[in-house]
Amino acid sequence: MKRLQLFGLLNNDMDQIEKELYRSVQGDDDLLTETSMHLLKAGGKRLRPIFVLMGGKFGRYDLQKLKCIAVPLELIHSASLVHDDVIDDAELRRGELTVKAKWGDKIAMYTGDYIYAKALIMTTELKNPRIHQILSKAMVEMSIGEMEQIRDFFNTEQSVRHYLQRIRRKTALLIAVSCQLGALAADAEPESARLLYNYGYNVGMAFQIRDDLLDLSGTEKQIGKPPGSDMRQGNITLPVIYTLEDERLRTSLLDEISSIREGHSSVGRAIDLILTGEGISRAEELASRYIAKALNALDQLPNSRTKRNLRDIAFFVTGRAY
Ligand code: IPE
Ligand code: IPE
Ligand code: MG
Ligand code: MG
Ligand code: MG
Repeated sequence: MKRLQLFGLLNNDMDQIEKELYRSVQGDDDLLTETSMHLLKAGGKRLRPIFVLMGGKFGRYDLQKLKCIAVPLELIHSASLVHDDVIDDAELRRGELTVKAKWGDKIAMYTGDYIYAKALIMTTELKNPRIHQILSKAMVEMSIGEMEQIRDFFNTEQSVRHYLQRIRRKTALLIAVSCQLGALAADAEPESARLLYNYGYNVGMAFQIRDDLLDLSGTEKQIGKPPGSDMRQGNITLPVIYTLEDERLRTSLLDEISSIREGHSSVGRAIDLILTGEGISRAEELASRYIAKALNALDQLPNSRTKRNLRDIAFFVTGRAY
């Protein structure tokens, strides 16, 4: 998996972030370093640190300061993925074995904890309690979001509203604060930080809807993880909820889902059913509406090259295949 390559402007700075990311997990314990590096070296889009640096462009851009937020944001994201792969029983991530698959659940739990702790240590270099508070709050929300998801596995009665609340917590808020904290650390105008938060939140919502769509219609090569995982786990995502609203498909889909739950069926038939209805296109439509809101927030920011790049990322998220 490779980093997003839209921004010549930030490439050198992102190389430094990459080095710092690797450096941050060295030297405490050989196994923790090995397990943490395993995930970091597998790549990833590095979307959150990219957003931090871009947020910083709306104020006094200082890479040394921004690093203390950009690196922790990617570390928090990484730690959440190590834990998420335990919860989701996932074998592959970024085209490589997950920490859980390679070393088991116990090692994965402490690898996640270790990476979270490393993120916190680095943020203390910025003596700014407000930033710590915003970050910690996002971590609390993420934990609640993942817990809600566990509670709702195989809950076929859940509403769209319920789904949106969950993805807001588990994904969108971290992306929102990535944009916001970059601006805050660079002492940008409060109004710019607010608009960037708004942009990030809406992009984040579309981002998770897209992730859930790719889980149904992407290939393993594209997404670096086996498609159909959500269905297998009983994670009821937006296209599934929409398909369940369709009277012509509801009963058959409910049957398929309960037989997946009992281990009598693989996910192929359920996915085929979803693909025949309008669940996919309705979910795409909602993602586009979030992107439109993100662009609206962006429009109110002063024109700049970074603003154009943020617009490109919003469009990337709408159509992304990885
Ligand atoms: C994966 O995030 C988890 C979600 C929030 C959907 P990314 O798609 O940003 O993962 P990487 O970092 O690029 O692998
Ligand atoms: C996002 O959800 C995970 C977190 C926000 C921790 P997913 O479970 O859909 O992410 P992937 O598909 O495993 O990357
Ligand atoms: Mg998950
Ligand atoms: Mg997962
Ligand atoms: Mg997913």
